[in-house]
Amino acid sequence: MSQIVDQFYRHVEYLRLSVTDRCDFRCVYCMSEDPEFLPRDHVLSLEELSWVAQAFTELGVKKIRLTGGEPLVRTDCEQLVKLLGDLPGLDDLSMTTNGSRLSKMATSLKQNGLKRLNISLDTLNPELFTQLTRNGKLERVVAGIDAAIAAGFTKIKINAVILRGQNDHEVIDLVNFCRERSLDIAFIEEMPLGVIDERKRSRHCSSAEVRQIIEQQYQLIPSSKRTGGPARYYKIPDSDTHIGFISPHSNNFCHECNRVRVTVEGRLLLCLGNENSVDLKAIVREHPGDIDRLKTAILEGIKRKPKEHHFGHQDEVQILRFMNATGG
Ligand code: GTP
Ligand code: 5AD
Ligand code: SF4
Repeated sequence: MSQIVDQFYRHVEYLRLSVTDRCDFRCVYCMSEDPEFLPRDHVLSLEELSWVAQAFTELGVKKIRLTGGEPLVRTDCEQLVKLLGDLPGLDDLSMTTNGSRLSKMATSLKQNGLKRLNISLDTLNPELFTQLTRNGKLERVVAGIDAAIAAGFTKIKINAVILRGQNDHEVIDLVNFCRERSLDIAFIEEMPLGVIDERKRSRHCSSAEVRQIIEQQYQLIPSSKRTGGPARYYKIPDSDTHIGFISPHSNNFCHECNRVRVTVEGRLLLCLGNENSVDLKAIVREHPGDIDRLKTAILEGIKRKPKEHHFGHQDEVQILRFMNATGG
C-alpha cells in the first residue's frame, strides 16, 4: 500500500504527471484563446520527470497518467514513456491525449510500454469540433483513435465534456461511436477553471441530464468497473462499452480521492480545486537525482491535501489557472 497518506487517511496511489502546458488545440473549456506558454526552462526535463516519477513509485504509487496540455506535442514524450515503463512497482502507465498525433505515434507508444490511452472527443460534427477546439480537425482525431485500436491498445476511454446548447444533442451519437469500436466513454461535467463568466455558467450540463438522455435509448446497468479514476461506470446490455460519469459538481468524489498532480512546472498540486502545492522543481534543480529528498518533500506536502474542492458550492474559490497549466 502507498506510504503517501493524508490527514484524512486517504492513500495516494495515482499520480497525474503533466509533461507540457502546450497543445495544438485550444479547447474552450481548457485554455484561453490566446494562451501564453511557459518558457522551456520552467518545464521539468525528461530526467527531472523521471526522478519525480521514481520518488512516487518508491513511495507506493502504482498508476501514473501522463497529461498536458497535449503530451504528444512534447518531442521527447515517447522517450519518457520508455523511461517510466521500466520503473519497478508501476502497474499502470497511461496517457490522456487529444488524439491528433496518434496516427503516427500509437504503435511506438504501445511498443514503448504505454498501457492505456484516454482520448478526448466531444463531438462528431467536424464544424463543431473545429469550433470547440478552436482549430482541430475531427478526421485526424478519428484516424488517431482507429490507429490506437489497430496498434493493439485495449480499454481505450473516450472523454467527452458535455456543454449545454453545444454538444448535448450528440450524447447518443458518441455512445454509438464507442459501441461500434468497443471503447469506453466518460461524460465529464465541465470544471470551472480559468475565467468564469455567465456564458460558461449557463452551458453547464450535469451528469444527471446526460444520463437521462442515454436512458431514453439504453438501459444503464451499474458496473463494478473501477480504474482508480473518478468515473462511475455503467454498462448497456449486449455491448462491451462502459459508460462513465465524472461529476465533480453533482457527485463529489473527494472523500475517496487517491490522486495528486504534478504540474508542468514541477508543482505538486494536492487538489484540482485548491492552490496548496509543493515546489518539487526547486528540489530537483538544487539536488539533482536526490530521490530521498523528493520523497521527504512529498510525504511532508501530502499532509496539506485539503479535504475537498468547493466547485459548485457557495464558498467556491475561483481557480484562475487554466486546465492546460494545471495538468488536465
Ligand atoms: P482512468 O485511469 O481511465 O480512470 O482515467 P481518469 O478518468 O482518472 O483520467 P482522465 O485524464 O481521462 O480524466 C478525465 C477527467 O477527470 C478529466 O477532466 C480530469 O481532469 C478529471 N479528473 C481526474 N482526476 C480528478 C480529480 O481528482 N478531481 C477532479 N475534479 N477531476 C478529476
Ligand atoms: N472541465 C472538465 N474537463 C476538462 N478537461 C479539460 N478541461 C476541462 C474542464 N475545464 C478534460 C479534457 C480531457 C481531460 C484531460 O480533461 O476533455 O479529456
Ligand atoms: Fe488541448 Fe486537451 Fe486542453 Fe483541448 S482539453 S486544449 S486538447 S489539452
